[in-house]
Amino acid sequence: MSNPVLTITNLTKRFGGVTAVSDISLDVMPKETIAIIGPNGAGKTTFYNMVSGRMQPTEGKIMLEGRDITGLPPHKISRLGVSRSFQINNIFPEMTVQENVEVVLSAYHGHSRKLFNIASRNTSIQQEAVEFLKRLGIDSLKAQRAEVISYGDKRLLEIAMVLATQPKLVLLDEPTAGMTPDETRRTTRLIKKLADSGDYTFMITEHDMDVVFNLADRILVMHRGEKLFAGTPEEVKNHPEVRVAYLGEEDDEAVEEANP
Ligand SMILES: Nc1ncnc2c1ncn2[C@@H]1O[C@H](COP(=O)(O)OP(=O)(O)O)[C@@H](O)[C@H]1O
Ligand SMILES: [Mg+2]
Repeated sequence: MSNPVLTITNLTKRFGGVTAVSDISLDVMPKETIAIIGPNGAGKTTFYNMVSGRMQPTEGKIMLEGRDITGLPPHKISRLGVSRSFQINNIFPEMTVQENVEVVLSAYHGHSRKLFNIASRNTSIQQEAVEFLKRLGIDSLKAQRAEVISYGDKRLLEIAMVLATQPKLVLLDEPTAGMTPDETRRTTRLIKKLADSGDYTFMITEHDMDVVFNLADRILVMHRGEKLFAGTPEEVKNHPEVRVAYLGEEDDEAVEEANP
């Protein structure tokens, strides 16, 4: 067995009297896709914010490939290889789709922003940028200014920019939020393809159950800050407590199915 990419031990976050995340432990293995689900207020965002460094845990420990990253600031955690999906306002609207990826690549290859214009004339960076756009199926848009492409394509561009940092762990926060059903299907298919390529490890929060059951190798179900259950999509679908707590089933239905 290989070692986990991420090891989370007894992670807890309290806001005054509210325990938003309570004593959660979890290993994320290389190349797996793990989804975090739970009803509103379950603690998903807080959990995610602690992993990316945006919030300090009250208790517990986060190790990245054996290195303690607990409480480090976001830019350090990102430099160590945990890449969070960019918000749309991190896209440079005036630049082309391809140049947006080139900026990330040239930073990754150690060029400063000032040298970007020189670096972008480097054909290997240009070729590499196009490869990432191809992976997201948006290479046909490479010459368009980023501000004119659709919302769904912007979210795919963000993912291309995340992957261009060569991350050890990719955090995607509701990757299909705000998308049309068509865009959601397309994005789910693309993320699935990236996950199946074996090049990436994903941690995804997502409210769309079809997306989660399609993508995840393993699902962490949170409820009121606690780990209610962690298992495969099949196990989660068949877990009576999860069905009651999260999938919105009535108690008696779940009981009926458990004891037909
Ligand atoms: N910055 C904060 N200050 C106080 N309470 C917070 C803060 N962030 C989240 N909470 C509380 O923590 C709980 C979990 O919230 P959150 O992590 O946003 O859940 P989810 O993302 O699953 O909807 C909620 O009760 C929420 O009100
Ligand atoms: Mg949330």
